Amino acid sequence: MPQKQRTAPDILARKGEGKIAVLTAYDYPTGMLADEAGADVILVGDSLGMVCLGLPDTLGVTMADMLHHTKAVCRAVKSALVVADMPFLSYQTSISDAVANAGRFLQEAGARAVKLEGGAEFVPHIRAMLAAGIPVMGHIGLTPQQVARFGGFKAQGKTARAARVLVADARALAEAGCFAIVLEAVPAEVAARITAEIGIPTIGIGAGPDCDGQVLVFHDVLGLCPGLRPGFVKQYADLWTPARAALAAYCAEVRSGAFPAEANTRRMAPAELAEFRAASEYGDA
Ligand code: KIV
Repeated sequence: MPQKQRTAPDILARKGEGKIAVLTAYDYPTGMLADEAGADVILVGDSLGMVCLGLPDTLGVTMADMLHHTKAVCRAVKSALVVADMPFLSYQTSISDAVANAGRFLQEAGARAVKLEGGAEFVPHIRAMLAAGIPVMGHIGLTPQQVARFGGFKAQGKTARAARVLVADARALAEAGCFAIVLEAVPAEVAARITAEIGIPTIGIGAGPDCDGQVLVFHDVLGLCPGLRPGFVKQYADLWTPARAALAAYCAEVRSGAFPAEANTRRMAPAELAEFRAASEYGDA
């Protein structure tokens, strides 16, 4: 029997009930693989910019990019909750922009929740999105859309003061009605404290073992992103090396004539071929 697709309330109900596995995906095959692998949540992250589009950070990712890729993921996913990332300037500009852009992910792309970066300052936006029926996942700590302000991709919450601000932000997001919060690149102690204090699941990335779930970037897990892997990532396979070798073998076989072989070639039935050749001789092929 096909499994019912997970919803934001299903994920919220998993608080304290075991670990939630989250993967990013960016298109039809990555969405299908992550879903078949059993991810509870598939995040169409704006990491798209760096992982798939060759951008140096996430600031250049647009609503058009995110909608295009979210649609492809949603066509593939049958079981996981699909969450679409709100790109830079799609929600920071006004509450009405936030609701309108978030709504497009549900209405046009088929996602069933959105994620946005930021703390207490976005509570009014989150409340308005929820009032419109759009489930929201929060994201605090290293929020890559703040890379220019942070001066790079730097871990957050390392001082007692900064850690207290993160705890306050997490409380504010939970009280506003988020169904989960991503904690990115924060000390494990801070993530553990937030996880113990709030009533919604925390999803860690570089935030230690005590979160209610973990998220990793698809290409990092499979070793498909050479040179871009941060220290907290665990790479479960190196698919880059065999993929490059297979592609190089194809190029070499095209050049040598070994591909296509007889097994890769379609030929006409002998009678059709004879007729074709005869007709060709009279110039009416
Ligand atoms: O964009 C993204 O992929 C993310 C995850 C790393 C949480 O925000």
